[in-house]
Amino acid sequence: MKTFKSILIAMTVILGAFTLQAQDLSKMNRFIDDLMGKMTLREKIGQLNLPVTGDIITGSTVSGDVVGKIREGQVGGLFNMKGVQSIRALQEVAVKQSRLGIPLIFGMDVIHGYETVFPIPLALSMSWDMDAIRNSARIASIEATADGICWTFSPMVDICREPRWGRMSEGNGEDPFLGSAICRAMIEGYQGTDLTDKATMMACVKHFALYGAPEAGRDYNTVDMSHVRMFNEYFPPYKAGVEAGAGSYMTSFNVIDYIPATGNHWLLTEVLRDRWGFDGFVVTDYTAISEMINHGMGDLQTVSALALKAGTDMDMVADGFLGTLEQSLSEGKVTLADIDKACRRILEAKYKLGLFDDPYRYLDAKRAKKEVYTDEHRAAARKLATETFVLLQNKDNVLPLKRTGKIALVGPLANTRANMPGTWSVAAASDRYSTLVEAMRRAVGDKAEVMYAKGCNVCYDAELEKNSTMFGREMRDERPVDVMRDEAVRIAKQCDVIVAAMGEPSEMSGESSSRSDLTILDAQKDLLTALKATGKPIVLLNFSGRATVMDWEVENIPTILNVWFGGSEAADAICDVVFGDVSPSGKLTVTMPRSVGQVPIYYNHLNTGRPNPQWFTKFTTNYLDVPNDPLFPFGYGLSYTTFEYSPMTLSSNTMTANGNIQASVTVTNTGSCEGTEVVQLYIRDMVGSIARPVQELKGFERINLKPGESRQVTFNINADLLKFYNKDLQFVCEPGDFEVMVGTDSRNVQRQTFTLK
Ligand code: BGC
Repeated sequence: MKTFKSILIAMTVILGAFTLQAQDLSKMNRFIDDLMGKMTLREKIGQLNLPVTGDIITGSTVSGDVVGKIREGQVGGLFNMKGVQSIRALQEVAVKQSRLGIPLIFGMDVIHGYETVFPIPLALSMSWDMDAIRNSARIASIEATADGICWTFSPMVDICREPRWGRMSEGNGEDPFLGSAICRAMIEGYQGTDLTDKATMMACVKHFALYGAPEAGRDYNTVDMSHVRMFNEYFPPYKAGVEAGAGSYMTSFNVIDYIPATGNHWLLTEVLRDRWGFDGFVVTDYTAISEMINHGMGDLQTVSALALKAGTDMDMVADGFLGTLEQSLSEGKVTLADIDKACRRILEAKYKLGLFDDPYRYLDAKRAKKEVYTDEHRAAARKLATETFVLLQNKDNVLPLKRTGKIALVGPLANTRANMPGTWSVAAASDRYSTLVEAMRRAVGDKAEVMYAKGCNVCYDAELEKNSTMFGREMRDERPVDVMRDEAVRIAKQCDVIVAAMGEPSEMSGESSSRSDLTILDAQKDLLTALKATGKPIVLLNFSGRATVMDWEVENIPTILNVWFGGSEAADAICDVVFGDVSPSGKLTVTMPRSVGQVPIYYNHLNTGRPNPQWFTKFTTNYLDVPNDPLFPFGYGLSYTTFEYSPMTLSSNTMTANGNIQASVTVTNTGSCEGTEVVQLYIRDMVGSIARPVQELKGFERINLKPGESRQVTFNINADLLKFYNKDLQFVCEPGDFEVMVGTDSRNVQRQTFTLK
């Protein structure tokens, strides 16, 4: 009886929510029908136009006469302006001076936080901590909306196996399963459960699609891959975005099947809308419509019509829609229905954000003062940053350092504020952030002495350094090489330990920052060599926005902590880990190659007909000059403590398509300090109708254990985890044998098998 009653209550709640939603929907439709009934063709096309003011620079084109166009109803939204005052001024023009007073939508690249900056997305993924990642997006949303922004161009979910590509830094690494989980968490964090809430903003999943697979790792370059690979390996995070209810998608710059994404009907309509059910709006990337001219797709009018017909709704900066759609309509190249559809989708987004109720709802200057860069937000960013650092090696337990004696802090990244937050932190207020020198001195207080010398520039080539330290991140030192190096060596000799803050400056990754060489740069390697000659123990803190090649460093430097770019609180967070207040727990979400020649190298590859995991054997798949395996595999990362895994148990060796089985393992902290382990589940489909990867991540769990503490981790395996897209792109699981792997990283696993009946 009780159960029946509770079912009834549950049904009423669900029904209630549903009815409310349906009512809301028809109210919205009525409102938009009514509004569109009043709009001229020009005003409808105006809604499809997204110019940029150039306040924050993220592209080379700046739009002209933005205010005049807003007045004429020729602007749907603006992006990358910072601050309530300037945003309000333009919103007032739209609301008070344009004929219909339709509010603008204000977007920004709020990629990994706002003024409280979280680690770069690649680093965030290394935490494997979905709750903390969701919370980082929630905090970003609170701060951005408090400062006038209601739409973020995030999450960026491009799977990337290509560390030469600088934008690896903006994504979540190489794995589709983890990438999907992160995409969901980010959208939940940004959008919450109610988009009209003043502290939530609309997400924009980007870059749809496949932007992370450019040939040769060169930004914007050609992408070419099979549909099977797209659906199984690159599409899952984008699809997860639809399932999580993302309000908008951004097209990518690259071609797909030889048609640029922005003009690709198959991609934007057949896959995104028809197959996955996306019902939000699609915006292009920066000038992506006019760039189709360079792709050889026709003149501006042709490519604009192509984009609209393909399913693009909003034109970022290219002026293609605004400039040509009227003519295309009169020539029958697009229909009024095409324009109406796009216009409606943009008005719907504004409606969902509550902008028609109150165009100034995100423009409360009092909120900005109270809610941006708060102690609480900073504490969350600092804690999460500690979870993203990956301890690659720690010979002789150089780390954690004691707060005693003298510490030499050297390297080009040791005393720079502006390079801490990392690429794509356009709202950062860097002068409020700490340098590592400051944070380390604070961390040791009067218990130890921190001596600093820069030691070298980023690299010998001043031009390369200039191009890698743009937008106020410049840090070139004009002193001669030997003067800088000698100073560092002299200090190092007086100290007990050397901490070398090295790697890439923050703009060496990100957009248009591809590299053909992935090693630590020449001047820094020379400094490391000189420091090594002192015989003092060295800790290398490697700042980077990509997988770097560190074969020499692994041979020569005992301790390496990869710190990526940790955000506004990076310096304090690094000290938390360096001095052992927190044990490192980050695990690699990209494979670390031994040499750039191995790229693309990733853990979930197919087998060849002549596999060879070892060094050279004739007529097997290998190189003459480098082993096949990476320097560090996907999933790898050390802790200050040690974890022991019990033998894995599988609840059964057979499974039916409707059933499930459990893989369990007990993990014990066998070391002397508290630590967090990320337990990983991989599966291999042994025989398939298409070739299947040697392993695929299918589960993970972060567990925190005190010394001596044990915890059982159980993964539930069901048919959904075994499904893949077959040659006809049907999502199926096929009966047969599967291998289950559980372990601390993708290479170090225990294996068992079961059969799917
Ligand atoms: C980038 C996008 C970004 C856009 C707007 C483009 O250059 O590719 O990721 O959202 O600019 O700033």
